[in-house]
Amino acid sequence: SLSNEELTTRIQKVREDLGSKLLILGHHYQQDEVIELSDLRGDSYQLSKMAAESSDCRYIVFCGVHFMAETADILANRPEKIEERNGQRVTVVLPDMAAGCSMADMAAIDQVENAWDDLGEVIDTNDITPVTYINSAASLKSFVGKHGGIVCTSSNADKALKWAFSRTSRVLFFPDQHLGRNTALTMGITEDQMPVWNPYAGDLGGSTEAQLVDSKVILWQGHCSVHQMFKKEHVDAFRRNHPGIKILVHPECMREVNEIADVSGSTGKIIETVRKAPAGTKWAIGTELHLVNRLKKEHPEQEIHFLSPVVCMCATMYRIDLAHLCWSLENLAAGTPVNEIYVDDETAKWSRVALERMLEVSA
Ligand code: 13P
Ligand code: SF4
Repeated sequence: SLSNEELTTRIQKVREDLGSKLLILGHHYQQDEVIELSDLRGDSYQLSKMAAESSDCRYIVFCGVHFMAETADILANRPEKIEERNGQRVTVVLPDMAAGCSMADMAAIDQVENAWDDLGEVIDTNDITPVTYINSAASLKSFVGKHGGIVCTSSNADKALKWAFSRTSRVLFFPDQHLGRNTALTMGITEDQMPVWNPYAGDLGGSTEAQLVDSKVILWQGHCSVHQMFKKEHVDAFRRNHPGIKILVHPECMREVNEIADVSGSTGKIIETVRKAPAGTKWAIGTELHLVNRLKKEHPEQEIHFLSPVVCMCATMYRIDLAHLCWSLENLAAGTPVNEIYVDDETAKWSRVALERMLEVSA
């Protein structure tokens, strides 16, 4: 097999050959050697905007996970964009098709449709706005678009919820219960107004009729297995052993961690927060390992710790490596694209409605 140097050289060759026709996007959780080769990097919101605004490229190679590549396809191939490019679609490629997101998989379209029908037996669904975290399949985003709802990321969930509450008095939030709960709590909604919908618990998702009638936000029982590993006792131990330390976490962490942290935010916000801090600041950071390790390297003037004593890395983000990137790029250059991500027109149309609402409220 080839060394990283050899792979990097071959990848650079394709980048030079394709020039501005090629846009490599990289999520902050990617490995260093992959992120170094991306043209642009960002959090989920920033990456969706980059795809939406991409103009003269023909190919987007997405170093991230499946739902991100789907979102890029939906936004880069808006009808007006295709027209601007004289009818050309952008080809979106995910270097390894096994790069999924276990949280996105926790809400399947038929489960959500069943939940919606079941909810309709108890409350008027015209008074519920579905809000989906961007970490979801295109079929879910399409469901949300059709039912008057909105997509959000961890950097605009508060704006999306406010928008939803300007329309209806209730929200169904999926798939991440933690992002939904943490955001709603900052808006003064209380835990007893947030029943959790377990798709495996029968007709009312494990709640009583009264709980659903009294609800403001119905939280889908999904979570990120990476962020769920950060615990309150880890925060307590850091505070005990490192006086003055600041705790910086992602809102996919559970309530008990999120509410005692100093700062909570998207990967973009985590990076910005560290960048702006004075030398000597001590941090314990609760998000994916590769990003925390990169921050450590980039900020030797600060003291950065990983919040958990055990490794929390996203195994699917990690699937994108130089070998897959090289293979997918060389196939693109040869005119034989592999791992193309294509969202069908009908699904894309409705997903776009929900995504454009997000872009609008967070502009
Ligand atoms: P953000 O980069 O938007 O914070 O998302 C984090 C994440 O878990 C992506 O899957
Ligand atoms: Fe999904 Fe969590 Fe991995 Fe993000 S970090 S892609 S939410 S499993």
